Amino acid sequence: AEELCRAAAREFVRSARAAIRARGQFTTALSGGSTPKRLFQLLAAAPYRSQVDWSRVHLFWGDERCVPPDHPDANYRLVREALLERVGAVNANFPMRCEEGADPYQLRLGELGKVDLIHLGMGPDGHTASLFPGSPALHADPGRLVVMNEDPTGRNPYHRMTLTYAGISRARLALVTVAGEAKREAFDAAQSALDATN
Ligand code: 6PG
Repeated sequence: AEELCRAAAREFVRSARAAIRARGQFTTALSGGSTPKRLFQLLAAAPYRSQVDWSRVHLFWGDERCVPPDHPDANYRLVREALLERVGAVNANFPMRCEEGADPYQLRLGELGKVDLIHLGMGPDGHTASLFPGSPALHADPGRLVVMNEDPTGRNPYHRMTLTYAGISRARLALVTVAGEAKREAFDAAQSALDATN
């Protein structure tokens, strides 16, 4: 898992530098969970931290749990503590606010066009962002980039805001980090589904 996160950190840095060189800014959407957390901690420390011009970074979220922003399970809090408070100011950050509903985020992402990098984890049930198996967001209208959603099994707690498939596919690059035996079956199933469509 540690080596995976280091590889992801190198890729994040490479992607950020290329975007800043090409377009003067780097837009990225982050998620939550333990694997993403480790990636953020790595990015906030030597040698990666000084390799990114954080003042040119625009931060978005790929999904959020509908809890207050300082709640221990908020993805916003995770990114703030593991990354933002350590790298200093980024140019702008755009937390998902469940109380506003999905439309303002949808508008903002629509205006932005492409996001340079989306980082995603995967749960043992195969969910990514907050796209849970059997949940309504999987059938969102193709024009929707962001929706509200929840896990119909109740295993993953809280109401959520999440990017849809269409939202994720707006990214120039999706960086997916998956580690651990508990996720092997879901990962293999996703891989076979992907192979079948290619
Ligand atoms: C969230 C997520 C989710 C997460 C995966 C992996 O629940 O907020 O964004 O998609 O990234 O469940 O989480 P772990 O790395 O903790 O297994």
